[in-house]
Amino acid sequence: MRVLVEKIYQIYAGAAPSRFRSFWHACLRSRFLARLIFGMSRFPVDTGDSCYFDLTTVLLRRELKKLIRRWDNPRMLEIGVGSFAILSGCLSKRVSTTIDGVDNREERVECAKKFISANSYKVNALTSNVFSNVPQKTYDIIFWNLSYYEDPGVLDVLFDQAPDYLASDGVLAVGYNGKALPRATVLAHLESKKNVSLDKTITYFWNMHEILLIKRTPAT
Ligand SMILES: C[S@@+](CC[C@H](N)C(=O)[O-])C[C@H]1O[C@@H](n2cnc3c(N)ncnc32)[C@H](O)[C@@H]1O
Repeated sequence: MRVLVEKIYQIYAGAAPSRFRSFWHACLRSRFLARLIFGMSRFPVDTGDSCYFDLTTVLLRRELKKLIRRWDNPRMLEIGVGSFAILSGCLSKRVSTTIDGVDNREERVECAKKFISANSYKVNALTSNVFSNVPQKTYDIIFWNLSYYEDPGVLDVLFDQAPDYLASDGVLAVGYNGKALPRATVLAHLESKKNVSLDKTITYFWNMHEILLIKRTPAT
């Protein structure tokens, strides 16, 4: 199975034009699928070629839906809320609290605000470079569908600062494409941190995306 998944990924990521890639991108841009999977009902802005979600978004939605059951009404923060707030928006329908969602790209936050208002999501979108502009409070769940094609150096900021924003039994969930960002790289950034540690690794036999659940390390 792994070999087959690798092969499909090579076709997808290769330089040559690929019908599979075109089909896949059409799925990620599909309003029908955004509605079906995430319950997004209104599309207030013509977003041209932008993808509404990726496979990590779908997998994080699944795992976070399970995780939020640990709390009555978890306080949540999404880092990298993106242009559509699609993940926070979908989760906000399941809790009565407002989810804080930040992104370092102001134009994405402005676009996300239009989707939040049109879809009546309970999401508070802010521009912030990781935690730089996050309200000073603690969260039960912090999650990020990582920008896995970019410099992983930002993981140091994330892992260094997350303990200041996580409740004592809080969870930091990060999702990524394990081909573009190998797990070993993420773990290398995590390893040196005293205040956070790996709790659980979630992998899938049918694709290369992964989710890591990270917890605060209790003070000794
Ligand atoms: C893979 S996209 C996830 C979009 C959406 N949340 C989803 O799950 O489909 C990653 C997002 O992280 C944002 N991002 C990248 N670096 C960031 C940083 N340093 N601080 C905050 N957000 C950042 C990007 O702008 C992008 O919107």
